[in-house]
Amino acid sequence: MNTSKQVNIMIGTVLLAILVFGGYIGYESTRQAEARVEITERIAERGARLFVNNCRSCHGLEGEGHVGPVLNRPGFRIIGEHDPSGAPPSPQGEADAVTNFLFNTISCGRTNTFMPLWAQRFGGSLSDTQVHQLVTMISEGRWDLVKEIGDEHDKEVGATPATILADASTLSLTEKNCGQFTADNAADIRGRDPFKAAPAGGAAAAPAAGGAAPAAPAAGPAAEGKTLATANGCTACHSVGGAAGVGPTWKGLSGHDVPLADGSTAKADDAYLKESIINPGAKIVKGFAPGIMPATFKDKLSDAQIDAIIAYIKTLN
Ligand code: HEC
Ligand code: HEC
Repeated sequence: MNTSKQVNIMIGTVLLAILVFGGYIGYESTRQAEARVEITERIAERGARLFVNNCRSCHGLEGEGHVGPVLNRPGFRIIGEHDPSGAPPSPQGEADAVTNFLFNTISCGRTNTFMPLWAQRFGGSLSDTQVHQLVTMISEGRWDLVKEIGDEHDKEVGATPATILADASTLSLTEKNCGQFTADNAADIRGRDPFKAAPAGGAAAAPAAGGAAPAAPAAGPAAEGKTLATANGCTACHSVGGAAGVGPTWKGLSGHDVPLADGSTAKADDAYLKESIINPGAKIVKGFAPGIMPATFKDKLSDAQIDAIIAYIKTLN
């Protein structure tokens, strides 16, 4: 065998190895993607079963709403890669905000409404894993599974809508407050339209000819701060519209005098706001208890993120 033949064989072998290996990687990533879809499907199915047994009485047979609000709305959807609608995947911050909102609301319920609290941590009947299964079902929009499992269940036990749907006069209000989102905080999430950027008739999201372009959403640090405040659960305790919550409202806070528990007064400048976020125990607002606001945000949030939240609070005057 001459040298050039040997070289050719070597090159051939290397190419073959690359082909086989490349093929394997391709196969492996498809397999993993399929496995992920299958796992999500199983989680959503468990969520659907829990919904059938615990939630239909108030939220309707397919989440269409009854004494509780509609849950099968686009605002609660998180869009993954390659959605059939062509909608782009939900940005991570937005996906986190939706998950956090659903997880928190289901766990805590909503004080002074018929929405019970469900998390075992707060005295309810569902584990965190089960709450997560419900969140997955809702954010994946798997109401088809709720219908399928519900129909089967109802046939078995002879239930009808009349026996399933709750009579509001027999319900009692949720008293306990564990720092949940208020209906006021929910408005943003409810109003999301994750499908709006889907190409319609092939024309990508260009403003309609002749029509005024929709007002651009506020951009910059304040907009980022708003997303961060929702994603980190701040707005579960702090309303932005003036309503009292577990913590003081952020409306009209910036630049104003804050009465403190020790009888003194602080001016809510940037330094005060920052201190309140990274070291909530330093100054306690009059009328609120110490130790409720978590002291862990200094580890979770970067300086830039804290500044963004402060920029957002300043827009609330
Ligand atoms: C006894 C009736 C009742 C049951 C049972 C119930 N809910 Fe609710 N739920 C409500 C009401 C009422 C509200 C709205 C509260 C308000 O007015 O702010 C609500 C609100 C919600 C919200 C927030 C919706 C929004 O638009 O802000 C979610 C999410 C939710 N429920 C999920 C569930 C899940 C999941 C279950 C089952 C584990 C469940 N609920 C069981 C009555 C109920
Ligand atoms: C579990 C409820 C809870 C959460 C979550 C929470 N806070 Fe608070 N926060 C409070 C309470 C209660 C107070 C008032 C007591 C005090 O001064 O520490 C407070 C006080 C504050 C103050 C001072 C308000 C004033 O009127 O002077 C700021 C600013 C603040 N929080 C920002 C945040 C930010 C930013 C987040 C999220 C990163 C957050 N909080 C998350 C409960 C919470």
